Amino acid sequence: MNVALGVGGGIAAYKSAELARALMERGFTVNVVMTASAEEFIRPLTFAALTGRKVITGLFSAASSEATLSSAIEHIRVAQENQILVVAPATADLLAKFAHGLADDFLTTTYLAFTGRVVLAPAMNTNMWNHPATQENLKILRARGHEIVEPDEGVLACGMVGPGRLADPQRIAELVAAGKVEPRRDLEGETVLITAGPTQEPLDAVRYITNRSSGKMGYALAEEAVARGARVVLVSGPVNLAEPRGVEVIHVLTAIEMRQAVMDHLNDATMIVKSAAVADYHRADAPKHKVKKTAARMSLELDPTPDILAEIGRKKGDRLLVGFAAETENLLEEARRKLESKNCDMIVANLVSQEGIGFDSDENEVVLVERTGETIPVRRASKRAIAGRIFDEMIRLRLALHASQ
Ligand code: PMT
Repeated sequence: MNVALGVGGGIAAYKSAELARALMERGFTVNVVMTASAEEFIRPLTFAALTGRKVITGLFSAASSEATLSSAIEHIRVAQENQILVVAPATADLLAKFAHGLADDFLTTTYLAFTGRVVLAPAMNTNMWNHPATQENLKILRARGHEIVEPDEGVLACGMVGPGRLADPQRIAELVAAGKVEPRRDLEGETVLITAGPTQEPLDAVRYITNRSSGKMGYALAEEAVARGARVVLVSGPVNLAEPRGVEVIHVLTAIEMRQAVMDHLNDATMIVKSAAVADYHRADAPKHKVKKTAARMSLELDPTPDILAEIGRKKGDRLLVGFAAETENLLEEARRKLESKNCDMIVANLVSQEGIGFDSDENEVVLVERTGETIPVRRASKRAIAGRIFDEMIRLRLALHASQ
C-alpha cells in the first residue's frame, strides 16, 4: 500500500524521517511531499535516501527546467497513486489550509485532490494547539472523517509544557497500519496502580542508598494508561519529572513508604504495574544524626527491604499483576524466575546493561514474558511506545483469562 507522507514545517519535521522508516518497516511504500518550510528543518535528501524514492518539494519542482503537462498535474498523480495521506507534523497553518480548502503548494493541492484516508499528526506550541482557531479547524477536519493522532504532552522546543509534541513516530505508524485512528479508551473502567522511580534509603541524616532510575518508564506507563481511559494511581519515588495530568500521584522516598502507599491502594486497583526500582536493602536503624568521619574502616549492616511485588503476588486475587525484571545477564531465565516466585501475570524483562535503554534513558527495549511461556520481544522505542505495548498485552491477557474462566 502506498502512503503519501506530507511533512510540514515545524521543529518536529526531523521526526518524520523516523516515521517514514517506521511506515516502511510495516510494509508501506512511502512517497514524501515536503512543504517549503519543512525544507528549512530537514533536507529532502534525508527522505530520498531513506525511502529510495523521489521527494516532492514544490508545486512545479518536478518540471525542473521545462514546464510539462505531466509535471503540472503531478499532485493529481500523487493523490491517485497513494491510498493514505499522512501529514506529520501537521502544523497549525496546514490544518487551517486543509480545513478551509486553501491550496497554494504541492501538499495542500494534493490534499484537495485526495479522496483516500487522511491521517493528521499535529505538532505545535501549546498555545497554538489550544487556540480556538486551531480547535475549530480540527473540528472541521474530524467531521470530514479525517483521523487525528493527538499530540503528546511534555516539554516543547519553545520551553512550554503541555500538549503539542508530535506523537511518537512508532505509534503513528502503528495507528496507520492498524487501519483506523481512534482515541483508544480500552482501559476505561480499570484502576491502574503504577510504581515508578527509585527509592532512597537513608544511611544517616544526610546520606542514602539509591539507584539510577529516573522514573521515565513508570511515568510513561501512567501517561499511556490515563490517555486510554484508566483511573491511574502513580506511586513515585524521588524523580525530577512533572506529574502527568489526570493522574493521582503519591510521592514516597523509601521502600517501606512505597509498600505502604501500594497497600493503601491495592483494594481499588484492577491492574498493577511495578516498574519502580525498589532498593533491595536498607539500613533499618539509620541514625537520625550525621555520622562523623573517622580514620577507621567502616562496614554497614543492611537488612532486606519488604518485597512489595511478592506481597502483591500473594494478595492479588484476580487483579492483573505485571512486574519488571532489570537484569544485566540471564535476562529470560531471571524474568521467568520472578514471574513464578512473585506470582505475576507478566514480567517486563529489561536488559539494563545496554547503552541508551533501561535506566535514565528516553528509550527502552524489553521482552514481555508470560505465564504461558510465551516471550514477546518489543524492539527499541520510546518509553511511551513501550508502555503502549505493555498495556496492549495486558488487555490481551485479561481477555484470555476471562475467556478461560
Ligand atoms: O526509571 P527509568 O530510568 O525509566 O528506568 C526504568 C527501569 C530500568 C527502572 C525499569 O524499566 C525497570 O526495569 N524496573 C524494575 C527495576 C528493578 O528494581 O527490577 P528488579 O529486577 O530488581 O525487581 C523486580 C521487580 O520487583 C520489580 O517490579 C520491582 O519493582 C519489584 N521489587 C523489587 C524489590 C522490592 N523490594 N520490592 C519490589 O516490589
